[in-house]
Formats: sequence, C-alpha cells, structure tokens
Amino acid sequence: MNHQYNEKVVDHFMNPRNVGEIEDADGIGDVGSPSCGDVMKLFIKVENDIIIDVKYKTFGCAAAIASGSMATELIKGKTINEALKITNDRVTEQLGGLPKAKRHCSVLAEQALQNALNDYYKRKGIPSPIKLMSEQDLVED
Ligand code: FES
Repeated sequence: MNHQYNEKVVDHFMNPRNVGEIEDADGIGDVGSPSCGDVMKLFIKVENDIIIDVKYKTFGCAAAIASGSMATELIKGKTINEALKITNDRVTEQLGGLPKAKRHCSVLAEQALQNALNDYYKRKGIPSPIKLMSEQDLVED
C-alpha cells in the first residue's frame, strides 16, 4: 500500500461502503474525470425528500474508491438539501485528507453526487438549483 494515504483512506479503499447499483434509483449520476479518464456512477433512492439509500461504482484509483465510499456515507439518511451541501472538500476532510495530486479524485465523487441530484430534480420535473461544474473545473490544479 502506498504510504501517501492515511489509515482512514486505506480503510475506505479496502472496505468501501455502499458499493453497487440501485435498480429503481430516483437519481443516477455518471461522471468521467478529464484529468485521468476514471469514471464514477452514483445512485440515490429518495423518499419524502430523504436519501434512504445510495450506492456507487467506480473505475478509479484508491482515492476515488475511498471518496465515493465517504460521500455515500455522508449523504445516506440526509435530506436532498443537506446532500446539496456536500463538497469534495468535505469528503476530503472527513477522510482525514488526501494527497494534493489526488484532489481531483474527490471531485469525481462530488460530481457524481451532484449529477445524481440533478437527475433526481429532472425526473421530478423540478428546476435544479445545481450549477454543474465545467470540464475545466474538474481538471486537477
Ligand atoms: Fe483517477 Fe484518482 S487517479 S480518480
């Protein structure tokens, strides 16, 4: 294991939470990273404005797997409004930090979540409050 990752990141990489798909999802977010070409897909199930279930899948690195795992943990049981506030900085902070070169991997999780929420609004016919990031924003800085 690469020593650049802390124990919490390694735990979420080795034992990722909420991996899989939700067949009758209420929102699906798909995103690809222009930085590395890795992809993530995130599914949410919503009842009475609460995210009652969430799953994700990724073809990504250890940091992407850990970020997806943490992002799903952070939104499970939360309201849509609470989920809207989850940023990649929050995911990274909750993981105890990521190496700077791996920041874009946590952005992948944030964007998969934002896309899933956006898809939820679309399916409901509600105007989405989400301003999706441009490809440029997704590129590693
Ligand atoms: Fe591609 Fe981490 S290197 S998601």
